[in-house]
Amino acid sequence: MKKNQKLTIKEKLKLLVLNGQFTTYDLDGKISPIELSDGPNGIRKGLVEESEQVNIHCYPALSVLGNSWDREVIYNVGEAIASDCIDNNIDIILGPGINIKRTPVCGRNFEYFSEDAYLAGELASEYVSGCQNRGIGTCLKHFAANNREYDRLFRTSEVDLRTFREIYTKAFEMVIQKADPYSIMCSYNPVNGINASENEWLLRGILRRELQYEGVVFSDWGAVHNHALAVKASLDIRCPYSTNSELELKDGIKKGIINEVYIDESVNRILELSDKVEKARKKRSPLDDTDRYNIALRAAESGCVLLKNENGLLPIKAKKITVLGELSESPSYAGGGSAEVVIEKKRIKSLVQCIQEINPETEIYYEKLYSRENCTHRTAGVRVFNEPKGLSLAYDSELTILIVGDTFSEETESMDRTSIKLNAHLEKLICNVAQKTKKLVVVVEAGSAIDMTAWIDKVQAVVYTGFAGEAINEALANILTGKTNPSGRLSETFPRCLEDTPIGGKLENPYADRYKEGVFVGYRHYVTNNVPVLFPFGYGLSYSTFKYSNFNVKEIKKQEYCVSFDVENISNIDGAEVCQLYVDNIDMKVERPRRELRRFDKIYLKSGEKKKVSFHLDKDCFAYFNICYNTWHVDEGRYEIIVAKNVNTDIFMKKIYVKQF
Ligand code: GLC
Repeated sequence: MKKNQKLTIKEKLKLLVLNGQFTTYDLDGKISPIELSDGPNGIRKGLVEESEQVNIHCYPALSVLGNSWDREVIYNVGEAIASDCIDNNIDIILGPGINIKRTPVCGRNFEYFSEDAYLAGELASEYVSGCQNRGIGTCLKHFAANNREYDRLFRTSEVDLRTFREIYTKAFEMVIQKADPYSIMCSYNPVNGINASENEWLLRGILRRELQYEGVVFSDWGAVHNHALAVKASLDIRCPYSTNSELELKDGIKKGIINEVYIDESVNRILELSDKVEKARKKRSPLDDTDRYNIALRAAESGCVLLKNENGLLPIKAKKITVLGELSESPSYAGGGSAEVVIEKKRIKSLVQCIQEINPETEIYYEKLYSRENCTHRTAGVRVFNEPKGLSLAYDSELTILIVGDTFSEETESMDRTSIKLNAHLEKLICNVAQKTKKLVVVVEAGSAIDMTAWIDKVQAVVYTGFAGEAINEALANILTGKTNPSGRLSETFPRCLEDTPIGGKLENPYADRYKEGVFVGYRHYVTNNVPVLFPFGYGLSYSTFKYSNFNVKEIKKQEYCVSFDVENISNIDGAEVCQLYVDNIDMKVERPRRELRRFDKIYLKSGEKKKVSFHLDKDCFAYFNICYNTWHVDEGRYEIIVAKNVNTDIFMKKIYVKQF
């Protein structure tokens, strides 16, 4: 449509609301409608008519991508999901979700990358770039401070400005700067008492003025309460269609809440988005369908975390193994809610089949052992069978693999977990099996941190897959057999219990979630307050051994540093290491976390191979958000640069003196 073509006010108002559930208004044919679809790890069923579905894949949940720490893998997932959208005539995927994991009970944590904003921002930028470079738009969500599901439309998130900028909008700020997402979705929850969709401070003040976002803002579905107030706050498109819109907008104009200046601002952003999508349609080129499956597989492998491996029990050397648990046949490959991707059951191979394909000579005894009917909360829904007669034979096998986990009805949108333990029946089952064999591998398929303290000391190995998509069992078999070396690292802390988390498990009050822990979220809390954890942020084991050497810190120019070191794979197994760099502001003038992740890289090393890793440090590595200056600020003083294997395991440290920026 020509830029200056006059639109009637009626046409303008219709542009400000979806034309249905997932399609924008086409100005009666003058512009092509934009097709939207959930969700971050695959096209949600039902958004494309079953009969028209083409090449829809279920990729690993974003929490698994977070555990991969692998920029390239995540870029490829963005390309793959874009390819599915191209095949299904979708223009914008409603993802990625980058909310920070403030509490492990949040029902949608499986949809988010991390408890750390820098890691989330870096990885989400790859997803957005991969997707958009294939000609499909993204919709970064949910802006902002949507860190729980309970009563998300009513209870307000009460957050101070510094915490807001350093923790809850930092990832948005990074992705806007690095990858320029086509659109952003505002969240359901009120922020400091005002609904996000109508919050001028949030949308016009922070998102547009401070973060300089110039793109279209969609509301979450049903998140607009008064459309005129939303337009005044600079929300562009109300989702989904609402019969109230026209009335509310006209009433808003009559009362002087909004006028055509506000309306034209949004209309122009919407028409620009329409042009952008139109141009992108011309450069779309989907990946081959087989390549997409291979990307799903590689991402599932890269995000799988080996948490325990006593006496090198893994990879499997046994010729006779036992596999236990219904999840090995019908795995938890995705979480619930709008991120659910339903694929035909036959497309997911069983774990037994996958292991057998790798090692045909291995003798495998399988028992279902339990059944997970449609359980909607933790203790119900799991029926553990009486120990079948064959099981005792199984214990003669050289190794037992027990698959447990949560299902999409336990970790899902619109509800939070009430506990971070596994279903009590499954915990008991683990302990029972652990009494029968001292070669027990427990595989956990869950979307967020699990309190394993009741059984972790009773088993010999633990693998955490997460909701790893359609290739979950092939990836798991590759890891268990050693065909692939595990390289995942936790992108969220696994606490010893819910009570140890910064906000515990209690609901403070029915009206507000007060973020009184401030910036001390995740490892920032545990490290600063010396709280022991089950597994720390950045933790994960490998079948390889890596040696670090030649650490060097050089000031390359005023207040910019180059940190370099060598990493060598001194084992006989090819593998990957995640090198992590944290910074500690020793002479802090404001209360700051004892250390914060500032750089990372995942490097792949063949057996015997050595590589040099270099990190360039500049202002963002030392800054905090100073509310007096209302900007990122670096206080002069001593800082410690720490190269680590995880947030609790330092390898190199060096104190430097940083002058005022
Ligand atoms: C949901 C979710 C959002 C999703 C949207 C469309 O309620 O919060 O993530 O994209 O509605 O289904």
